[in-house]
Amino acid sequence: MRSALIIANWKSNKTVQETEEWFFRYRQQTMLPHTARVVLCPSFSLLGICKSLLVRHHLLWELGAQTVSSFGIGKHTGEINAVQLKDFVQYVLIGHSERRIELHETDDMLFEKVKRVREAGLTPVYFVQDMTTPIPDGIDIVAYEPIFAIGTGHPDSPEDAEKVAHYFKTTKHIRTVLYGGSVDDTNVSAFMSCSSVDGIVPGTASLDPAIFSRLVQNA
Ligand code: PGA
Repeated sequence: MRSALIIANWKSNKTVQETEEWFFRYRQQTMLPHTARVVLCPSFSLLGICKSLLVRHHLLWELGAQTVSSFGIGKHTGEINAVQLKDFVQYVLIGHSERRIELHETDDMLFEKVKRVREAGLTPVYFVQDMTTPIPDGIDIVAYEPIFAIGTGHPDSPEDAEKVAHYFKTTKHIRTVLYGGSVDDTNVSAFMSCSSVDGIVPGTASLDPAIFSRLVQNA
């Protein structure tokens, strides 16, 4: 059986206390081991506490950052660079459409971020909105997230997800393709039964520990 890669994108949500409660409640929901690989992507401010909570709750998950600076170490006030992230994470999300739209991140900036992440020995997860989104060289993991499906409760169809995933695998030689956009505990198995889809990126559904626990079981 394939083991699904689940990248939970918490976006700009949760305080330290809410994070502690989330882990406690998640653990109450599920003591069963599962075969899914989970990468939790909280805000920068929560990475340290999440690292401790994973150990405390005996969860063999990994951590990811939701973005990274396109600059290196040095005089860049407010930026968090890839070398700093290495203390906490193995994965870095790059090119989410919320950042492209709200923060005007361009392909050039995103390509630079990928370079920084790879130089630091971390793994970029590159977000594409459709088959036309340019992808930098050397990307192993792509997340297909159509804009209409993000946070709307209206996911793309599994057939479309399969078509896009198959396209990236066959024409761009991407090893791992994920689908994101309104994935929840009720529709995850339909996406996971697509032969070219290797995993999913839940946002909203990862914020509630009961829903997320069911999602992980169903994946
Ligand atoms: P959603 O978010 O699951 O709330 O649609 C997914 C994402 O934007 O990564």
